[in-house]
Amino acid sequence: MRKARLKKTAFVAATIFALIQFVQPARNQSGQVLDTDISKKVSVPEGVQSILSKSCYDCHSNSTDYPWYTYVQPAGWLMAYHVRNGKEKLNFSDFGSYTKRRQESKLKSIASQIEDDAMPLFSYTLMHANARLSPGEKDAIVNWANHARDSLSSKN
Ligand code: HEC
Repeated sequence: MRKARLKKTAFVAATIFALIQFVQPARNQSGQVLDTDISKKVSVPEGVQSILSKSCYDCHSNSTDYPWYTYVQPAGWLMAYHVRNGKEKLNFSDFGSYTKRRQESKLKSIASQIEDDAMPLFSYTLMHANARLSPGEKDAIVNWANHARDSLSSKN
């Protein structure tokens, strides 16, 4: 009796899993560098750019990289959710469209999020191990963000 019930539950779970695979979220991939890209607004050295690209761009730009497991639901949904929320708060591809005040406050926030180990999100680095930041990479981002903010403030 119990065995039959277990079998039925497993069958229902497998069916649900199979069905949700058909609900693929839209992909966040424009492949273009816009005029509003952060690199057009403040100087972004190559070393910093490569760290931002590998550790932040999946959620904070218009070009997300999608490894195979993001094609499996619900992992893909979680990714889409992160991208939507992340871009809303900070989009490096749109940075140039922010007011100067907002640009400065985002750069400040970047430094503090990194110092607090709040970014990249832990739930993301669990799967995306290569996005984890080394101490040297953290320093590079924090220094760059502070520097970029100073250079913005000195322009009027
Ligand atoms: C997995 C997706 C993801 C990745 C990768 C990620 N972030 Fe975020 N980030 C978010 C989300 C979602 C939020 C908004 C919710 C929150 O604060 O938890 C956020 C918020 C932020 C904020 C706060 C913005 C504000 O309004 O003050 C900053 C700054 C930030 N992230 C910087 C970074 C940097 C720098 C990196 C790379 C080192 C990074 N994030 C990587 C998803 C991500």
